[in-house]
Amino acid sequence: MISEHAIQERVRERLSNDPARFCHIEGVIHHVTELAEIFHANVQKARISAWCHDATKGMDPQEEVQQINAFFPDLNLADWPQPTRHALTGVIFAKTDCHIEDSDILNAIRYHTTGRPKMGKIEKILFVADFIEESRTFVSKKQRELAKINLDLAVLDSLESTIAYLQSTNQPIAQLTFETRDYYRKNKGGSE
Ligand SMILES: [Fe+2]
Ligand SMILES: [Fe+2]
Repeated sequence: MISEHAIQERVRERLSNDPARFCHIEGVIHHVTELAEIFHANVQKARISAWCHDATKGMDPQEEVQQINAFFPDLNLADWPQPTRHALTGVIFAKTDCHIEDSDILNAIRYHTTGRPKMGKIEKILFVADFIEESRTFVSKKQRELAKINLDLAVLDSLESTIAYLQSTNQPIAQLTFETRDYYRKNKGGSE
């Protein structure tokens, strides 16, 4: 794996035409660092997953499909609505451009748009940090505070908000996202 600084520079270069996205990523870096410290997770893994998570967002959708089909031949893209797919190209970026092989980091990137049941700690930290980052103006102070207290409840809270928002705007929702919500509804506050 290349150094965190080198990863940061690759992401910066890749998003040179999209300063707002780079700024969002820097915000997520701030939150993952804080959450990893609070919940005794590996800070470096959390930060590296955050640098990569949206690096490929905004890619041409056709190119995105080609890349995913080539890299994940067994994956059914019907399970991944278009807005969730940058998580998959993010994994490709992490592996091929940054030589990342760590499964905690790769899973955090892969599931940051859909979630999945039984997420690992780094996965949950990125998922929640991405939701509470400051550019999300619809997130309340209370929701940001919850993230520092109970990671599982914060995961559930961000899932409920995101699903409600996507439903109200008639956007597709991955089946995996509903399964994740159902899992965290059943296991409220279970593991943190
Ligand atoms: Fe994303
Ligand atoms: Fe993001």
